[in-house]
Amino acid sequence: MRHTTKDDKIRVLILGAGGQGRVVLDILLQARKYDIVGFLDNNSDIHGRRVDGFLVHGGIDDLEKLTAELDIDGVIIAIGDNGARRGLARQVEQTGLELINAVHPSATLAYNATVGRNVVIAAGAVVCANCQIGDSVILNTGCIIDHQTMIGEGSHICPGVRIAGRVKVEPGVFIGIGATIIPKVTLGCEAIVGAGAVVLEDVLPMATVVGVPAQPIKLAGASEDIAAMLLPART
Ligand SMILES: CC(C)(COP(=O)(O)OP(=O)(O)OC[C@H]1O[C@@H](n2cnc3c(N)ncnc32)[C@H](O)[C@@H]1OP(=O)(O)O)[C@@H](O)C(=O)NCCC(=O)NCCS
Repeated sequence: MRHTTKDDKIRVLILGAGGQGRVVLDILLQARKYDIVGFLDNNSDIHGRRVDGFLVHGGIDDLEKLTAELDIDGVIIAIGDNGARRGLARQVEQTGLELINAVHPSATLAYNATVGRNVVIAAGAVVCANCQIGDSVILNTGCIIDHQTMIGEGSHICPGVRIAGRVKVEPGVFIGIGATIIPKVTLGCEAIVGAGAVVLEDVLPMATVVGVPAQPIKLAGASEDIAAMLLPART
């Protein structure tokens, strides 16, 4: 059962008290819908200390114990690493706690955009018509996601990224600051797009692409001979 304060606000813990935790805290405070109970973080050096005025109550493993003790209704996972964020979100789902979203009041969302759970949408981000934003996605400061684009679970779209219409971003993709993606491109699972890249064609799963136009430089997990077959020689 949801416990609410006298102001009828949902009591929330933020999992992760690093840089992303601070960003999420700011967004939740600006949104004025939540009663922030504090943080959990696996860095034991900061247990019992305050981050931006809010207490770090313990480690993330203490979540179940502290849920009852602190009368928590919901959590949000503020961890930059895509895989860690997705994995933890799935664990939290099993506990029955609500995974909430942090949407900055200055973000703009089309009326028919769909947004999953545990999603962070930072200041000035724009999500246009018919976009689908998956669970545990971060849409960072000032990024633009144009019409009919799909952002897969656990992807991170960094500040100032511009994604055109009908792009498919598969799960776990990282798009570095200021990159541009032209229409109808597919970015494969866990691909990485370097800062400032301009992506003109599909990107293989697990590939890293950089530059203008973007070219692949790495293929995670591939042996050297497979990578040599799949990646063009760099000039
Ligand atoms: C793409 C990226 C992830 C690659 O990191 P990496 O795997 O450690 O790669 P390296 O630093 O070893 O670089 C490999 C090569 O790519 C080049 N390169 C790396 N990033 C590049 C970029 N964004 N644009 C152009 N070239 C780039 C390097 O100069 C290097 O070239 P060389 O082999 O000729 O020397 C990283 O450079 C990047 O752009 N990260 C974005 C970070 C970001 O936006 N953070 C915002 C957080 S909110």
